[in-house]
Amino acid sequence: ETRRPLIAGNWKMNGLADESLLQIKDLAARASKISDPACDVLICPPATLLRDLAKAAMDSPVAVGGQDCHANEKGAHTGDISATMLKDSGAHYCIVGHSERRTDHGETNADVKSKAEAVLREGLIAIVCVGETLSEREAGTTLDVISDQVRNSLPSGATAANTVIAYEPVWAIGTGKTPTVLDVQTVHAHIRTELNELMNDANRVRLLYGGSVKGSNAGELMAVENVDGALVGGASLTAEDFWPIVNVCI
Ligand code: G3H
Repeated sequence: ETRRPLIAGNWKMNGLADESLLQIKDLAARASKISDPACDVLICPPATLLRDLAKAAMDSPVAVGGQDCHANEKGAHTGDISATMLKDSGAHYCIVGHSERRTDHGETNADVKSKAEAVLREGLIAIVCVGETLSEREAGTTLDVISDQVRNSLPSGATAANTVIAYEPVWAIGTGKTPTVLDVQTVHAHIRTELNELMNDANRVRLLYGGSVKGSNAGELMAVENVDGALVGGASLTAEDFWPIVNVCI
């Protein structure tokens, strides 16, 4: 089964206009030099930058996406942003259920599922994040936690074309720690097995790994069976750091 890899950058709450434009233009220029890119490249900036960055990356292989969205299309939800608005700003993807959303904003699997369904309603691609905490790992419950998250966060109507799953062990995010290749392989195989029970084209769904991915470990991680790309935080903020990761797949 061939799956086109996706290398996605999540800028989180980082980025002001001037510097961000320089970075995306740098990235777009590097990617544009590749005649037939073998992977998809995505940057998810803060929503304040989406429209400008989408414009700057237009006509390049770099797409932009949101980091979160509200489950509704519009309404009285102060401070929230809908998938409709993300699309209107030039987004083609939206991350949902990132562990920072689950932790900082108490998002449940049911919330994540509703958000992902809003993403699909707009014709955008949902990147649904799952991952165990350190205490869950130490308690030996990693695979149970992942099963629960996958089963209950997956949007109805999910297909390989509209849904991507990102496995991010919470303890590996921003810590410089990564699981062993065998651990990643085990969890990704487990996610694939779960998806096979939930959807028809599970073998074509892209499964990303996230958590302290950088240029120096991307090659090893991307070579793991059932790893079809990366969700990158810190190392996606500059084109200089992000490019070597993209370059593994492009
Ligand atoms: O969404 C990205 C992840 O949370 C990974 O962040 O690469 O800074 O560890 P990190």
